[in-house]
Amino acid sequence: MGSILITGGAGFIGSHTCVVLLNAGYNLIIIDNFSNSSPSVISSIAKLAKLEDKITEARLQLVKGDIRDKELVTQIFEIAKRKGTRIIAVIHFAGLKSVHESIQKPLLYWDVNTSGTRKLLEVMNEFSCKVLVFSSSATVYGDPCVIPIDETSPINPINPYGKTKAAVEMLLADISNCQQRTKPFQKSPTDWRIAILRYFNPVGAHPSGEIGEDPKGIPNNLFPLINQVAEGKRDLLHIFGNDWPTIDGTGVRDYIHVMDLAEGHKAALEKLLRSEPQLLTLNLGSGKGHSVLELIHCFEEVTGKKISYQIANRRAGDSAISIASPKLALKYLNWSTQKSLKDICDDGWNWQSKNIYKNKF
Ligand code: NAD
Ligand code: UFG
Repeated sequence: MGSILITGGAGFIGSHTCVVLLNAGYNLIIIDNFSNSSPSVISSIAKLAKLEDKITEARLQLVKGDIRDKELVTQIFEIAKRKGTRIIAVIHFAGLKSVHESIQKPLLYWDVNTSGTRKLLEVMNEFSCKVLVFSSSATVYGDPCVIPIDETSPINPINPYGKTKAAVEMLLADISNCQQRTKPFQKSPTDWRIAILRYFNPVGAHPSGEIGEDPKGIPNNLFPLINQVAEGKRDLLHIFGNDWPTIDGTGVRDYIHVMDLAEGHKAALEKLLRSEPQLLTLNLGSGKGHSVLELIHCFEEVTGKKISYQIANRRAGDSAISIASPKLALKYLNWSTQKSLKDICDDGWNWQSKNIYKNKF
């Protein structure tokens, strides 16, 4: 049986997707440099997938390394081929994701997100592995003109992070369009099968509390900050503006439970594996928007924790509302979100509180 290469498989979205894919019977190889995750996540993934010790090696392999190391990535493909577990598809999560950091370190972001992806694609091409699921982001839409945002909305990234995602999307479109000459004057259509998934706001955690989002340093995103206020790690939360044209003046986002997102990756992978060569570009979101205050109130209700906050100025680069149109994902993948905002708060806090326990002992 072939295997699936998961780049960045120890990270937040990657780890949850690994559990879903292992439970569905796939053999996985993870490459991760642990720049934003910990090796301990791998044993949690194995535990959640109920892998027996003796078959773990065959079902789940870990390679510690960088996707920009082309020699290493080539070796991974070569060894898998030699062992009879050829890599048949790649789910490419590895990358840097902080908007703020990307403004400070644009060269690093272009190197990891864009050059790193190009090198990976070169190796895939060499080994004729042409099935790819790529992690893109709603950030490619910039400040959207029409809500809900569908996939035909203009691409207008407004920060280096978003620009690197948009650049990779363009590269993937070129690869998908390229025609190869098999004989002189004869062209065959491309054989790449690619899914570009534009995530909206991934939050929550595995219901077991074994894996979740574990940001290094000070988080930029709302949900991990709410969790840290509940934990007592910070006194309060700053809400960036209460004068937006929204239901209560605070920013509205489409929050998607990470388990729904993981199921979306499985659906995309399976669609590609059984379909003709194609490029699919799909939003992964719930189609529902919630304001900052709605999220805080839901969290308080579910957890019984008080979240103190202060209204602050708007954050540069924010938009009032970002909500996905999830119709295309339903049409092509037969996928839609199943979990509620309450599930997000419940599972997110369960993970955070278990982590406090782990840290203490
Ligand atoms: P994450 O940081 O938790 O996971 C990324 C993983 O990739 C980490 O384990 C990190 O150690 C690894 N990694 C980073 N650079 C690497 C490199 N050069 N070589 C090998 N491994 C490397 O992030 P996540 O939230 O799981 O996001 C996964 C993907 O989804 C990223 O590409 C991100 O840009 C994209 N995305 C995330 C969000 C979000 O809000 N979480 C939203 C939209 C898109
Ligand atoms: N917010 C606050 N206070 C905070 C942090 C956030 O009020 O301390 C507000 C923001 O203004 C926004 C909402 O909470 O209205 C959500 O903000 P996040 O930072 O959690 O998420 P964003 O929508 O700004 O962006 C995130 C990622 C992007 C990604 C995008 C869509 O940071 O990289 O989701 O996937 F592209």
